[in-house]
Amino acid sequence: MSQVCIIGGGVSGLATAKAALDMGLEPIILEKAESIGGLWRPNTGSVWDSLKTNVSNYSMDLGMPHQDSTPRFLHKDEVYRYLFDFSQQYNLDQYTNTQTNVTKVTPFDNQWKVEWLQNGEHHVQVFPNLVIASGVFSKSYIPDIKGLKDFEGTVIHSKDYKNANALKNKRVVVIGNAFSGSEITCDLVSSNQCQKVTNFARRKLFVMNPYCDNVPWDLVFFKRFIADQKKPTSYTYATISEKYDEYLDSGKFDLKLGQISHIQKDGVVLDNGEKISADALIFSTGYRTELSYLDPKICEAVKFDPQDSFLPMTLYKSMLHPDFDNLGFVGMYRGPHFSVIQLQAQALMSIFAKKISMPERQELMFGMDSVKKLRESNPKTQYPYPNNIEFCDGIASLIGAKPEPKDFHNDYNLWNMIYKGPFSLAHYGLKGVYAQPEYAKKHIKQLQKAVNEL
Ligand SMILES: Cc1cc2nc3c(=O)[nH]c(=O)nc-3n(C[C@H](O)[C@H](O)[C@H](O)COP(=O)(O)OP(=O)(O)OC[C@H]3O[C@@H](n4cnc5c(N)ncnc54)[C@H](O)[C@@H]3O)c2cc1C
Ligand SMILES: NC(=O)c1ccc[n+]([C@@H]2O[C@H](COP(=O)([O-])OP(=O)(O)OC[C@H]3O[C@@H](n4cnc5c(N)ncnc54)[C@H](OP(=O)(O)O)[C@@H]3O)[C@@H](O)[C@H]2O)c1
Repeated sequence: MSQVCIIGGGVSGLATAKAALDMGLEPIILEKAESIGGLWRPNTGSVWDSLKTNVSNYSMDLGMPHQDSTPRFLHKDEVYRYLFDFSQQYNLDQYTNTQTNVTKVTPFDNQWKVEWLQNGEHHVQVFPNLVIASGVFSKSYIPDIKGLKDFEGTVIHSKDYKNANALKNKRVVVIGNAFSGSEITCDLVSSNQCQKVTNFARRKLFVMNPYCDNVPWDLVFFKRFIADQKKPTSYTYATISEKYDEYLDSGKFDLKLGQISHIQKDGVVLDNGEKISADALIFSTGYRTELSYLDPKICEAVKFDPQDSFLPMTLYKSMLHPDFDNLGFVGMYRGPHFSVIQLQAQALMSIFAKKISMPERQELMFGMDSVKKLRESNPKTQYPYPNNIEFCDGIASLIGAKPEPKDFHNDYNLWNMIYKGPFSLAHYGLKGVYAQPEYAKKHIKQLQKAVNEL
């Protein structure tokens, strides 16, 4: 059994390990934290106590069904539970090494020399295949604002925010109004514990409700016939929140728009001279990607930019580089969806197991060129691959899993559900290297039925 070393035991690492086993490869997960789950881990993950997913449970799917009783938008503990159950179901724990911090990866004789620390001991092993799944949102980012070091109150990043308990009676300024900033603002307001809550942002975002007429938004908008229309790309930035606009309109918090001029010991000064007095600042200013263990020559080859939070590397479909047929990346672009993570994992494992060949060099170069253009684009879309279905289809084509109308001569009803019904990972289970047609058909029909009943 050929081995695959997988750095990271989050969604991407677990999906990769399962895909490796399906291809007859032996996965070895190296995870620096105390358990699997990545940013969904209880206590040491990057999610706060009240966080709910911003897509429905149907989009948080790794090919293992959620229980019928699962709520539409999962609480963060339910996501962790799903990942834990996934690991148990496929016996991934026997391939998982926790508290194993990878410190160095270097190419070695067409293989990968991986070094790590475990219980204070240094280990080295050479692996024939390597997957980097250590998370795109791995490092909190706090901008270098003049005067920040003089601030005398509490300063935290959204990655470390859990709840409002430590902020009782404080005047809190949340900096940033994207997914973290808007929802943490609402969490503070809902807690009724703070003296005053202010959200500072450089621009007003469009705030979308998670439901459209009782149907989760992703089941309404993620549809193949909509994706096929290839509408002009939107540069509107949005966030999803049930309460943000309601709390704003009822004056439960203040929204201040502008630029920060500097920070003083007791507040934030905007460039129009206005001062927002504060006892605590919560920087909801996003993340950067940490790859300090990776050989600088490989970082150079993949054009890794640690400051680029949009697409930190130039890779074919954000997963492959033409110079390395035994190195892959999973979930390493801004906003990785479970569906993409699963397909990237499956495509890479099919290549490593030699079930399919690596795409031709010319195709890889062409794909990388389009990623380079995306990285250089200005203005940028909110996410690099806004058409998630198109992106998934491109990866699924590599493993022969992209559904085509000609496959459904005998079952037009099923094609209708795939084309006009809600998007699901099961669309890629009908054929190809990882086909499970009976499961996929059942899942597609169940999803359509569930949506019809909403
Ligand atoms: C606050 C927040 C909320 C989100 N909410 C949603 C949502 O609602 N729905 C959704 O679909 N997506 C959401 N996402 C996107 C999220 O990125 C994915 O859901 C998913 O968690 C990505 O998993 P991952 O395995 O790629 O990365 P991670 O979850 O970051 O896991 C990476 C793992 O690698 C480990 N690691 C890192 N470096 C090393 C090393 N040197 N050695 C060993 N191990 C290492 C880390 O400890 C970690 O466990 C959210 C992201 C954030 C930041
Ligand atoms: N499930 C959930 O509910 C949930 C919750 C949180 C996060 N997430 C996910 O996690 C990912 C990261 O989201 P995020 O909100 O943490 O980060 P983000 O999307 O990168 O947003 C960062 C925010 O910080 C602001 N910002 C950055 N630099 C700044 C500066 N120098 N001064 C002032 N403002 C600055 C940005 O403003 P500009 O727009 O002006 O640049 C933006 O509002 C997303 O993919 C999201 O889907 C999901």
